[in-house]
Amino acid sequence: MRLDKYLADLQVGTRSQVKEYVKKGLVSVNGQVVKKADIKIDEATDEVRYQGKSLSYQKYRYYMLHKPSGVVTATKDNIDKTVIDLLPKELTKDIFPVGRLDKDTEGLLLLTNDGELSHNLLSPKKHVAKTYYVECDGQLDNVKIEQLCAGVDIGDEAITLPAKVEVITIKDDNYVIKLTITEGRFHQVKRMIQAIGGQVIYLKRLSMRSLVLDETLEKGDFRELSAEEIAGLKS
Ligand code: URA
Repeated sequence: MRLDKYLADLQVGTRSQVKEYVKKGLVSVNGQVVKKADIKIDEATDEVRYQGKSLSYQKYRYYMLHKPSGVVTATKDNIDKTVIDLLPKELTKDIFPVGRLDKDTEGLLLLTNDGELSHNLLSPKKHVAKTYYVECDGQLDNVKIEQLCAGVDIGDEAITLPAKVEVITIKDDNYVIKLTITEGRFHQVKRMIQAIGGQVIYLKRLSMRSLVLDETLEKGDFRELSAEEIAGLKS
């Protein structure tokens, strides 16, 4: 990464300010004062100091995205806009989505460059809880909802693991529920609702392990996770 970009990313100053600071000899790399702002540094290994103070570059970055409908959960796509396209370009290096939400699903999506955390959250052995807000259409009733809790046949080898259901409203044949599952099978929620004779008409992820969607984020917006949120995901 260019030194001036690195310094600007760390908010030492604007791009033109940091160039001035470098010219004035206020910046050193690995103990040597440097006078050129366009030199390349390795942000993972080089030690950069500004006015003698060591700057640290975050190795891992964690962003919470409020995924809107209509974007695909991928890093690249030839046709559709991706969740990565919703971040400013300079933040996207090595960033990928943790798990997948369907194109028409909204809500919480974690974006990071931390492969180990991603692996731990997605591993089928870890049974990480994910809660969804689900609007369903169809002839559902409490017996069927109980089946959903116990586990249903969605056409895979095994029935789904026990789930938690909180019924929010029932209106005519429409159910609005909060569904918590601990697996991440393909189209799992939609297939679970189909298995009990319903159809998902709106789906939004509310939480993953301890991480809860920040409802102050507009659809399509993102923010960095707080230290507590990161610790919660790792615990
Ligand atoms: N289950 C689904 O069916 N779709 C999603 O996007 C997430 C979970």
